[in-house]
Amino acid sequence: MSPTLTITDIHSKKRNEALEILAQISRVEKKTFPTNEAFGFGEDLWRKKPNTRVLYATQTEGARSDLIAYAVYVRQKGVALLHKVCVSPSHRRQGVGQQLMSYIQQRLRKEGCQSIQLWVDQAREPARALYLRCGFEEREQIPDYYAPGRTGIRMVLDLERDG
Ligand SMILES: CC(C)(COP(=O)(O)OP(=O)(O)OC[C@H]1O[C@@H](n2cnc3c(N)ncnc32)[C@H](O)[C@@H]1OP(=O)(O)O)[C@@H](O)C(=O)NCCC(=O)NCCS
Repeated sequence: MSPTLTITDIHSKKRNEALEILAQISRVEKKTFPTNEAFGFGEDLWRKKPNTRVLYATQTEGARSDLIAYAVYVRQKGVALLHKVCVSPSHRRQGVGQQLMSYIQQRLRKEGCQSIQLWVDQAREPARALYLRCGFEEREQIPDYYAPGRTGIRMVLDLERDG
């Protein structure tokens, strides 16, 4: 059974709490992505970028509340660019990624967004499988997009069609 998640927008938090959560996200990010692809989860992200949304998921057990996943997207008029989705390694394959994606899709649809676009490394099979399962379509492949030998795939989800 999928765990019950609480999904929160970092912008709903006060500065100190937001910075503590960003530091936790940063630790997972550094473990998951190569240095040149790791996103900078610093104070700037919280303070200065009004179109950027950072969402994070926590799971509560007793008094403990652990960060187990996060996502980052940027709104550009009717399109949302999904930059990042990540589930902490010990919580993968339990439906967390799918729940986070559903939340993002519902929220963007409600806000009037027409489509979600993303780039994914061809070698990231779990991520590609998740996106396909969520209804994304592969639209374009660019060889050496991330680095020599690493193909990037552009995927799009039409929120109006799937609504
Ligand atoms: C991609 C990622 C977010 C998936 O999160 P998750 O919580 O494990 O995914 P879910 O359990 O919700 O899986 C949903 C569906 O995605 C697909 N999927 C997820 N992981 C998979 C894997 N390892 N192999 C094949 N399919 C997979 C399956 O279709 C799965 O449905 P199923 O379990 O009923 O078969 C997670 O593996 C991750 O954080 N990877 C590292 C970061 C990353 O690559 N992010 C994407 C680029 S920014």
